[in-house]
Amino acid sequence: MQNVVILGTGGTIAGTGADPDRVWDYRAGQLSIAQLVKAMPDLAVYPTEVVQVAQVDSKDMSWQLWQDMGRELQRQLARDDVSGIVIAHGTDTLEETAYLLHRLVDGRKPVVITAAMRPATAPDADGPRNLLDAVRVALEAARRGLGGVVAVMHGGVWAGSQVRKMHSWSLDAFDAGGQAPLALIDAQGQWHDEVASWPASGNAGWWPLNLTPPRVEIIHSHADADGWMVDAALAHAHEHGPLKGLVMAGTGHGTLHKGLEAALAKAVAHGVTVWRSSRVARGGVQSREGDAFVACGELTAAQARVALMLYLMGV
Ligand code: SIN
Repeated sequence: MQNVVILGTGGTIAGTGADPDRVWDYRAGQLSIAQLVKAMPDLAVYPTEVVQVAQVDSKDMSWQLWQDMGRELQRQLARDDVSGIVIAHGTDTLEETAYLLHRLVDGRKPVVITAAMRPATAPDADGPRNLLDAVRVALEAARRGLGGVVAVMHGGVWAGSQVRKMHSWSLDAFDAGGQAPLALIDAQGQWHDEVASWPASGNAGWWPLNLTPPRVEIIHSHADADGWMVDAALAHAHEHGPLKGLVMAGTGHGTLHKGLEAALAKAVAHGVTVWRSSRVARGGVQSREGDAFVACGELTAAQARVALMLYLMGV
């Protein structure tokens, strides 16, 4: 059996609270990945190594941190004695990291992202099971010749290109926007296939992470969305540097308030690329004849922002 390298980045999985009964009252990113692994005797039978890449609440995720993560991933994935990677992450921006990495990796080895909805000090802490499942998935996927980015949460293995957080506190918080999980992992750690094959990785390579990212912002459509936010963004960009892209989180099938649409015409005239996604959790946005703005398919608005940044970089 070859090594699985576990990268620690913080999150609730590494979180602690003073009162174990107040599970919402804690600070993310307090325990090191080495401490988490050491506290799990079940993991000791597997050949793992740990690397602390960051120690953050993932609400504060940044391009800089993605660069650090990418550099470490490149280093570890290039090792012949490493069969897969596990990333311990926060749940809040997991879908953005998973989607970005899905677009970059070559898919020869598994990269398994996991997290927790309860801090390590909670009586019903889900981090240990998720971490154990993630290591097992990395080893089993490598044994089967499966690679690419997946997320392992609450017994589900989700495609990195589709996974998203769907619940703010439930332990069963993730899905793939209505798509099936790739596999389920039962309480005994047994793997059950749900689909015939894993999605192909984007395979763009790591070079985009060496660039300065273009500024892309997300704006929602809603009652009274009269374009004020678009005008404010354009005015700010005029003073502080270029706005390159806007992702609209539209209503329903990606529709936009007429006031917003009028303001977006001005943004386009200023060279801003506009894509449209939906603020609705499931179903996505398909393109229509005569579309003014590119439809983002089943990506969440946050994932679409990553996709538009990559597009503007020439990926
Ligand atoms: C975070 O995203 O880092 C905090 C919240 C969580 O992990 O559930």
